[in-house]
Formats: sequence, C-alpha cells, structure tokens
Amino acid sequence: MRHLFLSVILSAAFLTASVTALADEGMWLPSLISQRISDMQDKGFKLSAEDIYSINQASLKDAVVLFGRGCTGEIISSEGLLLTNHHCGYGQIQKHSSLEHDYLKDGFWAMDRSEELPNDGLTVSFLERMDDVTSAVLDGYSAGMSEAARDSIVRSNSARLIKNATADGNGLRATVESLYYGNSYYIFIYREFSDVRLVGAPPSSIGKFGGDTDNWMWPRHTGDFSIFRIYADKDNNPAPYSEDNVPYRPKRYFKISLSGVGEGDFTFVYGFPGRTQEYIMSEGVRYVSEVSDPHKIALRTKRLDIQRKYMESDRAVRIQYASKNAGVANAWKKWQGEMKGINRLGTVQAKRAYEKRFSGWAESAGYGDVLWKLDSLYKAAEPYSFIQDYYMETAYTVELARFARSVMSLNSKGASEEEFDAAADAFYKDYYMPIDKECFVAVMDAFDRNVPEDFQPAYFRDMMSEYGSAAVWADALFAESMFTDRCNRMRFTDSSAVADDPAVVFSMEFSRWYSRDIYPELSRIGREITLLNREYMKGQMEFEPEKAFYPDANLTLRVAYGQVAGYSPSDGIYYEPYSTIDGIMEKDNPEIYDYNIPQKLRELYASEDFGKWTEDGRVPVCFIATNHTSGGNSGSPVINADGNLVGINFDRVWEGTMSDIAFDPAYCRNISLDIRYVLFIIDRLAGAAHLIEEMEFAD
Ligand code: ARG
Ligand code: GLU
Repeated sequence: MRHLFLSVILSAAFLTASVTALADEGMWLPSLISQRISDMQDKGFKLSAEDIYSINQASLKDAVVLFGRGCTGEIISSEGLLLTNHHCGYGQIQKHSSLEHDYLKDGFWAMDRSEELPNDGLTVSFLERMDDVTSAVLDGYSAGMSEAARDSIVRSNSARLIKNATADGNGLRATVESLYYGNSYYIFIYREFSDVRLVGAPPSSIGKFGGDTDNWMWPRHTGDFSIFRIYADKDNNPAPYSEDNVPYRPKRYFKISLSGVGEGDFTFVYGFPGRTQEYIMSEGVRYVSEVSDPHKIALRTKRLDIQRKYMESDRAVRIQYASKNAGVANAWKKWQGEMKGINRLGTVQAKRAYEKRFSGWAESAGYGDVLWKLDSLYKAAEPYSFIQDYYMETAYTVELARFARSVMSLNSKGASEEEFDAAADAFYKDYYMPIDKECFVAVMDAFDRNVPEDFQPAYFRDMMSEYGSAAVWADALFAESMFTDRCNRMRFTDSSAVADDPAVVFSMEFSRWYSRDIYPELSRIGREITLLNREYMKGQMEFEPEKAFYPDANLTLRVAYGQVAGYSPSDGIYYEPYSTIDGIMEKDNPEIYDYNIPQKLRELYASEDFGKWTEDGRVPVCFIATNHTSGGNSGSPVINADGNLVGINFDRVWEGTMSDIAFDPAYCRNISLDIRYVLFIIDRLAGAAHLIEEMEFAD
C-alpha cells in the first residue's frame, strides 16, 4: 500500500517535470525546425525556419561548422575567419608551443596572414544538407529478421548512399546516422576543409582562466575562445594545405551584435552536441550514476593527483601535460556533477515510476515484453560494461603501451623512416616517464582490487604473481621497454624486437583479452539492447503522442533554444545570469597559477581602457541561459532573436550536467562567453584590431 502511494507521488512529480521540461529542453533537427518555429517565435525569435536551415538559399547553418570531430565553430567574416573555444583549439595551440614559444602561456596572434599557423590533421566540416533516408537504409529488411541481418542491410545500404552522395569528390563527406534508436535514419552530407590555420588565441590565463577549479562552474570568468581561418584553393574548394591557398569565401557568416542579451531574452545555440541518453530505462541510468561514474571518478582522481604533483614542480612538464591533464580532469568533474544531479532529481525512481505507467499501457499496445526484457539485459550486461569501463580507464590509459602499439602498427604497414620520426617526435615532445609509470602502478593496483579475479586476463595474473606487486612489475616493464627513451629510435624498425618489447606485450595481451573475453558478450547483449531500445523508443512515442520527442544527440547539427536565466544552486543562494570584468579582478591572484591574469589586463582595468566593448561601463564576460546543450556544443554560436551572434557556448553549470540523461529546467544552464569580452581581448589586450575590421556588426 505504502509502496503504491509512493509511486503515485513519484509519477506525478515526473509528469510535471516532463511538462515543464518542454519549456527549454530539446535539441532539435534543423531540417525539421518548422515544427518548432512557432514556439521559437512565441519566445521571441524574429526569423523564419528557412533562415535557420535551407537547401535552396544561404542560411544560418552555412555559418556553423563541425570543428575537428568534437567541437563546433562559427564563421564570422567573408574571409573564412572562424571562432571556437580556446579549449577546442587547445591541442593545436599546445602543439605549436615550446619553452621558447609558449603560446599557451603568452597567447598567439598572427599580425598578418603570413603568420597564420597550419594545423596538420585539423578539419572543419560544413553541413551541405541532411535528408531522411529511412526507407532506403531499410530496403531489404523485413520484420522478424535477426539483428545481425538487419545490421548488415543497414551497413550496405548506407555505404551505397554515402558513395552516391559523395561521388562529386571536392571535399564531400557523408555519414548515415540512426536517430531515435534506429527508428529512423538520416544522411548528413558535409563539405570538409583541411587547411585550417591558427589566427589567434589569448594566453591561458584568460582562455583557461580559473582552470579546472572553475571548470563546469558558475559564476565564471573564462575567456574561452580561439580564432582560426579556413583556406581553400583558388576556386574556393577544399584543398590540402598549400601556400597557394586563399581564405575561404563562405556562403554565409554571422553578423555580430554588441547589444548583449538580458535576463529573459531569447537565445539559440546552433551546434553539434555529442551524446545524450534521455530515453533509456531506469536500469541504464542506475548503472551510470551508481556504478560507472563513481568508479571512473575514483580512477581519475588517482591519475590527476599524480599529474598535478609533477606539473606543479616543473614548468616543462606543465606544458607537456597541459592538454592531457585538461582532458582527464574535464570528464572527471562532469561525472561528479552528473551523479549528484541524477540523485537530486531522483531520475532512477522517476523513470521507474514512468516505466510502471508505461507498462500499464504497453500490454494492450503490443509492447508488453519490452521493459522486463530490457531490464534483464541491462543486468546481464552490467559485469561486462563495468569491465569495459574499467579497462578503458586503466590499462588502456598507459601512454607507453599506446605508443608502443602504434610503433608496432607502423612496422606492420611498412612505414617510412620519416613516419617513424614524426611519430616519435610527437610522442616524446609531451612524454614524461615518471608520471606514466606512477599512473601505471595506481591503475593496475585498482584493476587488481576491483575487477573480479575470474574476469582478469591470465597475463595480468601471471605478471602480478611473478613480480608480487604492480610497483615491482612497473620497475621491470619501464626498465626493459625500449620505448621509454627516444635514443632507441633506430630499433623501432626492428619488428621482432618491437614485438617482444614488454610495453607491446602489455598492450597486446590486454587487447586480446578484451576482444576475446569481454567484447563479444558485451556486443551480443548490446545488440539485443539496441533492438529493444528501438521498440521502447517507438513505444514511448506512441504512449505520449502529444509530446514532441527530439532525437538523442549524436554529433549531428541541432538547434537548442531558451532564454537567459539565473538559477539557485542550493538553498539560500541565487545566481545572477551575468558576470563582468569586475569578477575577474576579484578572483585575480598572482599566487595561484589558474587565477594569475596578465599584467596588461590589470592595467587596462585600472585605467578603464575598455574600448567600446562595455555595458553600463563594465565589460560583460559570461552569461548563462536555459539552452539544452552537451559536449560537442563547445564553440557553438549563441544567437539572439535577430539571428546575430552574441556569444560563444563553452560549458554547462555543474549542478546541471545530468542534462545528458535528464534535463531539469531549474538547474540546467549552458554557459556562454559574451562576444564583447572576446572583442575587448582582441582589441585592447592583443592589439589585433585588424581582425575586428574583417567582422560585420549588426548594430
Ligand atoms: N567543461 C568544458 C567542456 O566540457 C570546458 C573544458 C575545458 N577543459 C578544462 N579541463 N578546463 O569542454
Ligand atoms: N565544454 C563542452 C564541450 O567541449 C561543452 C560543455 C558541455 O558539455 O555542455 O563540448
């Protein structure tokens, strides 16, 4: 009786949550935005669906790019100038940095085009169009076929569609992606440019101001931007890097608005969110918040402590590990917020209550089996998912082993001496053995303790009993491997010595174990889960026919819209939605690395040399809003009601990071950099006004 009462209350809570969630929750497909446009317009947007996405004329989508394979960028001039986040360009800035030219520390500004720096391997992709290809992808499939048969039909039909769509060459690239868990398929056709040059980046003391202490937090004062330029051949087509290339002339670029946005104003984020799981069942959420997140956090805490210890005592090591450390720390902190948010919201219980209501309806609708089957599959998958997660955060993170493995592949493909040199240069530039070795000991100890013994690789058991401990094993492995020292470079081409190297053996043994003992079972269960998730998704859509369902994110272009709004992170505290340069000065502290701003910024502040980049006499720095964003939305344009650029998205607030699984309008806020702070830094701090002259202003 009590139990029933409880679930009624919970389901009522979930009901109201999902109704209010409709306010700003959602990452919508641009090609279907006509279904949302009246809601957008009700909330203040002044343009049309065709202005957002069109295949007949230039539209805003032509000014948005996928930057690399995990960030977003926007075009802000007729000569291919591109804005993204500092943390998105971080890898490139870091690669160009050394003790002599420390662009991480000092920033980098190309004063003319000849100084812009090429970036091997970096691409940007423009979405040409997206189309529903569900029936073509499922051509030949009929209900009752096995999942494996369905997979292979989907794969071969997709390959054919991709081939046709990219036949013209010219930088065309296409992918076919499943939406709504395979209930529909879309083709995304991109034009990809590979000559993308670094134009400018502020010093990290601005671009990463607040470091990992402020990361995922509000109030925020990080100037998280960097500037690149896309180059094309003389005919404006994609081409590999060449001195003869010229700045790309885009179909469309953003105009910049200097009027800012205030509390309650409409904003819209246009970009490439990477991954959300809004529709999975309670068991899936429980695994994330109660098993996977806590374990991954504990493992990363150990590695971060080790990295930090060495980085704090040696400036060269700080540069070497800056990018790696930021990557490890970022997800580590996000997972903590996510766990907390899921617990606060009671997502597992709310989903269980929803599932109960769904089940009541499902019997008659033909979905009666779906949930209990899914539930038992999740339980069956759990030991394997856990070991996979554990492997990825332990043995797989050993830098030496990963490099050893890549040298072995260079050998087997018969790479040239130059290729070996290039791989060695890239690895040793940023390798510091004591960190890697200490991390090895920490993660292997944890593996020993937390992976059930009968699941551990025989090789691992052998090594642990041979050496007695992970520490003694590490002494031997790091002493014997040739890969700890670049001096052994000449031996890298000796394929039998490479094959016998203990770092190669380590990597090979673990990956053989994973692909023999873990992966097959996990993917077998995974296939059944996929099938049932497809059913469950379809069922959920039929169960609530009046609700608009957006597809989970999958690094395809989406529209998120909402409004500028503060929030209350906990009892007794209310956060304003804006931060200003005053807050930078409050945090400024020469004693603390992450809060030690450039002297020049102190001087600009003291003399109030703010240029025209102010509101009420202060330079605005960041703002928050209710747009539903995710990892991958970094660098996305934040657009006002008139379609002009007012900011750059770069983060979410910590209390709202569970929005990848459950969106709570009370807590979920995206964090944007105010475009006026960007312009202030370019103009007053960098003295790079020539870049501002390229831009166009709306007001
Ligand atoms: N949290 C933001 C994102 O997920 C910014 C990350 C920058 N990295 C960092 N470790 N501070 O990308
Ligand atoms: N900083 C994140 C990124 O790299 C965006 C923040 C988020 O996850 O919302 O994509």
